[in-house]
Amino acid sequence: MKKGDVIIALDFPSAEKAYAFLDQFQEEKPFVKIGMELYYAEGPEIVRQIKQRGHKIFLDLKLHDIPNTVKSAMAVLSRLDVDMTNLHAAGTIDMMKAAVEGLTRPDGTRPMLLAVTQLTSTSEERMQNELLINATMPATVQKYAQNAQEAGLDGVVCSPLEAKLVKEACGDTFQTVTPGIRFADGDVGDQVRVMTPEKARVGGSDYIVVGRPITKAEDPVAAYRRCVKEFLGD
Ligand code: C5P
Repeated sequence: MKKGDVIIALDFPSAEKAYAFLDQFQEEKPFVKIGMELYYAEGPEIVRQIKQRGHKIFLDLKLHDIPNTVKSAMAVLSRLDVDMTNLHAAGTIDMMKAAVEGLTRPDGTRPMLLAVTQLTSTSEERMQNELLINATMPATVQKYAQNAQEAGLDGVVCSPLEAKLVKEACGDTFQTVTPGIRFADGDVGDQVRVMTPEKARVGGSDYIVVGRPITKAEDPVAAYRRCVKEFLGD
């Protein structure tokens, strides 16, 4: 099986703050996640600059619109040369297929494309009562993951507690990228359902997304190294 990676969530409000953080890494070039906050603040230039510094990039913009619009937007993102990006599986299989088409470059290559199944901030109760999805959370996550696989996507973003369910539904090579990671002795913050890097790996996570346990650590480089060591067991 392909070896996964630790992805640092660059949840910073400006390029200046993101670069100040990245400048601390002299030896390694971590895989980083650029989310809505930093992307909307700085635009596509932040992606080009961080790519130029030698980092792999997960552009976490969670697209969800009509298929044609998502296809065109994905074509723009593929020209930005990101390594991984995502959308909401709720946009339907047609939307996901259009996204794959848009993302595919003329030479046939494309960034990894992941689907968000149900956000981990959505409880089963709200999903059923507000969204009128008449199924359990595990069944919904599995079905959305299967839809993503049918559309040709590479995997899903999900809770580390759901990674096993996804692998059961879609097979071992279908990738799972999981936020909600905390060290055993660390602060949980606003995350509710968390796992340690080691347990996430054992539970079926291929990539873990880690924000505050690294970005807010006294020594972010040491925290990153600890995370990689616990996750990959090196
Ligand atoms: O600081 P922390 O480790 O909680 O950061 C986790 C990152 O993963 C944040 O960027 C957050 O937005 C993102 N995320 C999440 N839960 C999801 C999807 C994304 O925590 N279901």
